[in-house]
This record gives sequence, C-alpha cells and structure tokens, in this order.
Amino acid sequence: MRTFVLTMALWALLCVPSTLFSQKTSIENIEPRVEALLAKMTLDEKIGQLNQVVGDISTGTAVSKDDMLSQVRAGKVGSVLSHTNFDNKIKIQQTAVKESRLGIPVIFGFDVIHGYKTIFPIPLAQAASWNPSIAERIERVAAAEAAADGQNWTFAPMVDVGRDPRWGRVMEGAGEDQYLGSRIAEARVRGFQGNDLSENFSIAACTKHFAGYGFGEGGRDYNTVDMSEQRLRDIVLPPFKAAADAGSATFMNAFNTLNGTPASMDKHLITDILRGEWAWKGMIVSDWNSFGETIVHGAATDDTDAAAKCLTAGSDMDMVGGVYVKGLKKALDEGRVTQKQVDEAVRRVLRLKFSLGLFDDPFRYLHPQRRKETLEKAEYRILARETAAESMVLLKNDGGLLPLSAASPFKKVAIIGPYANSIGNKDYMSFWTLGLGARQYDSTKVVTPAQALKPALEAMGFEVTVTEVCINVTCDEVAYSAALKAAQNADIVICCVGERGFDCGESRSVANLELPRGQETLLRIVSRGNKPTVMVVFNSRPLVFPWANENIPAILCAWQPGFEAGNALADVLTGRVNPSGKLPMTFPRATGQIPLYYNHFNTGRPQQTFGTLWTSGYLDLASTPAYAFGHGLSYTTFSYGDVKLNKSTLKMNEILEVSVDVSNTGKVAGEEVVQLYVRDLAADVARPVKELKGFEKIRLAAGESKTVTFRINPAVDLSYWNQDLKFKADPGKFNVFVGGSSDKVKEASFEIKI
Ligand code: BGC
Repeated sequence: MRTFVLTMALWALLCVPSTLFSQKTSIENIEPRVEALLAKMTLDEKIGQLNQVVGDISTGTAVSKDDMLSQVRAGKVGSVLSHTNFDNKIKIQQTAVKESRLGIPVIFGFDVIHGYKTIFPIPLAQAASWNPSIAERIERVAAAEAAADGQNWTFAPMVDVGRDPRWGRVMEGAGEDQYLGSRIAEARVRGFQGNDLSENFSIAACTKHFAGYGFGEGGRDYNTVDMSEQRLRDIVLPPFKAAADAGSATFMNAFNTLNGTPASMDKHLITDILRGEWAWKGMIVSDWNSFGETIVHGAATDDTDAAAKCLTAGSDMDMVGGVYVKGLKKALDEGRVTQKQVDEAVRRVLRLKFSLGLFDDPFRYLHPQRRKETLEKAEYRILARETAAESMVLLKNDGGLLPLSAASPFKKVAIIGPYANSIGNKDYMSFWTLGLGARQYDSTKVVTPAQALKPALEAMGFEVTVTEVCINVTCDEVAYSAALKAAQNADIVICCVGERGFDCGESRSVANLELPRGQETLLRIVSRGNKPTVMVVFNSRPLVFPWANENIPAILCAWQPGFEAGNALADVLTGRVNPSGKLPMTFPRATGQIPLYYNHFNTGRPQQTFGTLWTSGYLDLASTPAYAFGHGLSYTTFSYGDVKLNKSTLKMNEILEVSVDVSNTGKVAGEEVVQLYVRDLAADVARPVKELKGFEKIRLAAGESKTVTFRINPAVDLSYWNQDLKFKADPGKFNVFVGGSSDKVKEASFEIKI
C-alpha cells in the first residue's frame, strides 16, 4: 500500500521556509548590492565570475586543471562544477570569501538528474507516471540533499523533446511530446527551486539544452540539428518556455548547431527569443566547453572569436572551457564586445548568487550538522519506491497473467536474467548516478528484484529461485542452458532483461534498439521450457523486442527505477500497486522506423493497411508502432463513454468544454490517465494527426465512474506557428479525441467560426 501519509509529511517539511541559517534575500535589495559590487570589480575579476572550473569529477572531455585554490584566491573562478568532497567545498568557499580581494562566494553546480544521494527513477520514467507532482516531489528531495551537501545549482531539468530513442539522453527528458514535457518541466523547476531560492532546501534549476539538442541527425549525440523555425517553436521550445515561466533561474546552451549556428552563439535563440520574446531574466551557462567547441564546429577561429560570438549572442558563463579567460579581454580590446555586455553577464551571475543567499551566508549550504540530518532519510526511500512503482508501464498482460497472487495457479517462480540481481554492476540507474569516477554514490544501496521480489513472493507462499545469467556479458550457451534449466524447474518465469546503467545517458547513443547482448535469444530459450513468462525490462529508452511482443504474454517496462528497483517491482508484480504508467515515447517495432512519434503529419498518402503500394509505409514492416505513445495497461479495465462537447461550433474567444465519463469496469481499484488530443483538419498549413492538449490522472474504485472535463481555449490551445511566424489558430473544423492511449480514443468534432 502506498505510504502517502509519511511522504506528505516529508513534503510539508521540505516546503517550510527555514530561517535557521540566514535572513531572506529580497529581490529589491539585490540590485543595489549587485551594482555596488560590480563598481568595485576589475576586468579580471569580472571575467573570473564568468568562469566555471571543474571540480573533483569530470562529466565530459578532458579539460586543463589549474590549482583551483590559487585561482579562487585570485578571483578567477565564479563557479565550481561537479565537486563531491564536502570538506574541500568548505575550503574552496573559505578561500573565495576570506582570501579573494572582494570575497565573492563561488557557486557550486552539479548534475542532479534523478536524485542526489537517494536515487529515484530516471526522468523519462517520471514522465511515464503522467503525474507531474511526482517529478516535483522527487526534485524537492533531490534539492534538499544537494543543498545540504553544498550544491547550489543543478544542471536539470533537461527538457529536450526526444523523438529518437537511439539518442542516449532521452532518459533525461520527458519523451516525445511537448505538452507533457512542458508540464513535467515546470514541475521539476518548482521542485528544485521551491518557493524561494534562498531557502535552505532549494537549489537553482538549469533548464537545458537550449535548443534542439534532441534532434541530432541519426540519433548521434552532439550531432547537427536542422529544422524549420515552425518545428522549433511548435515542438522544441514549449517545454523551455514552460520552465522559463516557472522561474527557472538559469538555462544552459546546447552543444549542437541549429540550422548551422552553434547554439552557444545563437543570438536568435538566446537574445531574440529567450531574453526578448519571453522576457526571461536569468543567467545562461554554456554546456561543457561548448564555447570552445564553436571553433571545432568551424564557426569561430579562436578563443577571442568564440568569446566574442558567445557573449554577444547572450551567453553568460563559460563551463570549463576557459574561453572567456583566454579570449574575452582581447575581444574587448578589439571592440568585438562592449564593457556593457560584459557587465550585464556578470550582473546575471551575481544576481544568482545573491538570490541563493550566498552573500548573506556563504556557508549556509556547507553546514555539517544539517548535511548529516538531511542526507538519505528513510522517508526518501519511501518516495523512491512509490515513484518507481508509479512510473512502471504494463505493456502487455495477456490472459491476466499478472498480478501474481495467492490465487495464481503456480507454485514455483524462477527469476532469471542479467537484471535479476545485478548488484555489483551498478544497474537500475543511469550513467549520471554511477559512471563518474569519484562520485560518491554507493550503488550497493540499490534493492534488486532478487532481494525484494523473492521474499515478497515467498511470503505469499511461492517457492522462488534466482538464476543470474549474462551479467555484464553477452549471453552464451552456458547461460542459455542454465536459464532453460531454471525455467523447466518452475511453473512461471520472471525474466529480467534490459540495459546496463553505463549504457544510458550522455554519449551513449546506439545504432540498434534491440535488446542488447543476446537477451531476446535468452527469452526464446527460456520459453522452450513452456512456462508462462513475464518479461521485465529495465530500460532507459524505448527498445525493440519483436519476438517477445509476439510470444511473451506479460511485459512490464520498469525503466531504470533507482535505489528502490526491487521493492517497486515487487509492489507492481504482486498487485500491491496497480500499474498506471503510460508511455511518454513511442516504442517502435524496428530501429529502421525511427523517427516514429504519434504527433506526425498525415502526408498526402497515409497508409491504412500494411502493404498498400503508393502509400507512406515500408515494404517489409507496418509503419505502426509496437506500443503507442500514451499506452499502458492496468490490472483493471476502464471504459470510456462518448465524448461530449458543450457546443459544436464556437468563436475563437469562447471556451470549449470536452467531457467524458470514465468507468472502472474491472474488479480492483486503479488509476487511469485520461488523455485529450486534438486535430486541426484544415489549417493554413498541414497540422499533426493528433496533438496532446490535456491529461488527467484519476483514481477509480472498482465499479466507480467519473466525468472528466477538459477546457480548450482556442487562442491558446489550438494556435501554432504559421508560415509568417505568427502564433495563431485558424477557424475551421477540428477533431477532438479522448482515451487512455493515443491509439485508443473516442472522438467528436467541432468547428471554430470567425
Ligand atoms: C552535459 C550537460 C551537463 C554538463 C556538466 C555536459 O557534457 O551535456 O548536460 O550538465 O556536461 O556535467
């Protein structure tokens, strides 16, 4: 059963502003303090504030490391990235505050991607809950732990829309849809930042990667991005806008070129759109040496050129590249940048430090006692377990094989596979939480399926064996025969397959989405035992497993659930938690179908039936997905009544109400994500076949019904960026769809008249 009471108490605690360590820093008194400080700064000190150096771990390409303390003492460091050692952080801050000329504190940044010490499900999994409050609660805890350990600033949320599962970083985002992505983005920003950045449990968010990074050609990380301005504005930018509106204190540039311009020096993106159209006031940091990489892209000649181009585009802080240190002075001397531009960037950095309360008490986040009291509380594990279970997606459950219960006609359960008990190999988490050398995460804290599911099933009267095979290696004959033997000796098999933690995240793109290292063959071999099989896949992205889709009766997508992997899995497989996750990304049938996403255009020749020539499809495979966006089953069933509209024609300034009765027609309580989609049938340009415009997660007892009502405001919800780059809706006919998955909907029509 869910332990809402405890986690809500924890939630309340984290929301309470603390006055223990400092007075509040009000925005009004920041500006004069920024100006007073700026007036005292030398050019070197200003450049120092724009300079971020790497701490004790590296998350990117090699960079030169000077003696950090002497740099800090000389006022040449504004920020330190990825520093884990707590005592050293104190030493660095002491040096900055007590030994540098102006005593400006440094700001510590860290990639807090799915938890800081307590590891939660990956962001893509959080999005699969379709419950933004989950993301917010996770980030509140992550922020509390990070802040207590001296971090002031996270490089999250990543809000890049991801339509290509080959790209390793889809695990860091909210999937393929900009509407769901926007709701998750704003929730994560709220979670990190709380009500006030200067609170002890808040850290600054950094919305990344601005912009287009998810659209790299071929799914290769860092690769070229080329897209129309309409696609950029309709699909890519909405989650960034949502994060900006939610108050994200900082943004990060992207590595890629966008329509030929490296994003770090893209004035159109940064100055025209972000700071201009959106009136966003925060600070923007480069990605890891992305100022320096403008030279590698072939868009800048040297450090001076790169510094001039990035600063004048509107980028503020240089992450680890040292480009401003090496090139900004010369750029200023040559008149390539103005003093005013340098000062403006420095102001943004100082404002951030003031907002975090770092000037009021530079050691407020470096308090050993608070650190001890805050890190890894038992309650956090409860939240990790709840959220992991709520993220899991039941892809298939033929014949109601799941959940396993005392009434199941089986006695002996075999848990088999590389992820049955992968404790030593740091799985069930992403690269971000374990791949980084000196990072302090202790992956032995993860609860594996063998550790939790086995005793849970035994307590229900099952006999359980665990057979670990193919751990960290490609399956071989020995593994296959051990697995087959285990399956033959059981009545039901739970086969745990998936991806290694190290294979997920940045620079982990793949050309093949098939289950790696012979694991689909493992499933085939196991099936020779003729026992019903449950496949549990621990994945960081949509994977391809065509044989399993055809032949395995029950498939659960567990993602990378974090520390509570085994407990959450036990909760779902035993029915203590009824699965309610829905896919935030389409699962293709084959890698060759990529990109495959639900909100595509119709084309002039849509394919209705596989094999029809002269239509948009493949000769050798249907163009439909294995599992559609929004798909996810429950242990109960839901039925949808007809879609009712409060009017069938309306004016642009009127609100349309869309209602549907949803009933739980099964035998157990469950949660359903009711999804609302719209299609503009004839706009001034072609529009997608469906676009998500709303969703609501509801809980229904067995036999219970509820009416769910969505409100559509045409000027906002039906507008798109047209050929003239105007954001507007067109009058005409629309279809509206409501259902529990993008491919299972009821529909109605309406018309907008001028
Ligand atoms: C990544 C960023 C990350 C940064 C700092 C880069 O390689 O692209 O997302 O925040 O490293 O670790």
